Amino acid sequence: MSAPGSGADAADRARRAFTEAFGTAPEGVWAAPGRVNVIGEHTDYNEGFVLPVALPHTTRAAVARRDDGVVALASVQHPGERVELDVAELAPGRPAGWAGYPAGVVHALRDRVPGGVSVLVDGDVPAGMGLSSSAALSCSVALALRDLTAPDPAAPDLALADLVDVARSAENDFVGAPTGILDQSASLLCTAGHALFLDTRDRSSEQVPLDLAAAGLELLVVDTGTTHDHATGGYGDRRRECERAAERLGVAALRDVAAVADLAPLDDGTPEGTLLLRRARHVVTEDARVLEVVRVLRGDAGPAAVGPLLTEGHASLRDDFEISTVELDTCVTTALDHGAEGARMVGGGFGGSAVVLVRRERTDEIVTAITDRFAVEGYRAPRTFAVTPSPGARRLD
Ligand code: GLA
Repeated sequence: MSAPGSGADAADRARRAFTEAFGTAPEGVWAAPGRVNVIGEHTDYNEGFVLPVALPHTTRAAVARRDDGVVALASVQHPGERVELDVAELAPGRPAGWAGYPAGVVHALRDRVPGGVSVLVDGDVPAGMGLSSSAALSCSVALALRDLTAPDPAAPDLALADLVDVARSAENDFVGAPTGILDQSASLLCTAGHALFLDTRDRSSEQVPLDLAAAGLELLVVDTGTTHDHATGGYGDRRRECERAAERLGVAALRDVAAVADLAPLDDGTPEGTLLLRRARHVVTEDARVLEVVRVLRGDAGPAAVGPLLTEGHASLRDDFEISTVELDTCVTTALDHGAEGARMVGGGFGGSAVVLVRRERTDEIVTAITDRFAVEGYRAPRTFAVTPSPGARRLD
């Protein structure tokens, strides 16, 4: 996996690529990270709790305003796929593909850039791994447009929380991916050395210190090499199932269910009732796990103590929510068999990555065990990296 770039080199590279693409200099370069969620999966659209950390991997956006009413988009990762159209021509689904994310942000903020804008993006957040490369893309552009057009740059008129909604609307309304606010909140609000404890209902958040290195631990991301697509996959089905469960229980959102026992009315003996019970049970127990993980991290036990809660979360996503894959299950089981503290799949599901919490001295053994097991099973070779909780979106230069 290529080394993450977010410092001066990365800014220079984006500046140069911008000038090559558009023949002028950008007004600035912004970066926004991908994320990995420690715990709290499929809770965000149920108005529950999440606990992500930002990755060192970012998308950089080099941006300059124009005066001809054109939106021009280029990407280092998609050479030859440059997009140019009038701001007025932007509409959901137009443009499609990678360009839909920056275009959706420009569309949401079009009143601020009536003269158009040129955007060059360059990123190293691995795509399709459940690590929010799309949020990194939308959030870098949202922050850039905010900063460039704020009447008073020292006191921006749009808060980071407002940009979460801008980036989310780009994904939901423009690209058509029905995501919650986990990814955009993580990309914009995370801080280095911390996990972001976010209540997605009232948007209150707290930075929870997470110093894994001091505890002799590593949080490994293992990419199973199987990809997902939230715009078309089972993600939307799960959302609808959760909405139906909440409706049947007479609550605004599954967040409002206090305990698993309160889900009993769902179990009306029909296959649909049993299915909704399982889906809702995941959400209710996952919210409780987030609160428990935060409690443990604030206490004296040390971060290794959250391991079993991560593993429980995996079982719930596998058995009740049914969004794991054989590759993800194999990764988790193998890691645990070789002494990991905990492991679980992350993100929307149906492929992507797992996280494995390990004592540093066991990392090599566990990575080798997973790699060997994948080879024996005939799966694609997994790719692995250790996560350092990194800063959220920021201006680079
Ligand atoms: C995807 C979505 C998020 C969230 C997660 C599951 O990453 O974009 O909003 O629902 O899946 O936790």
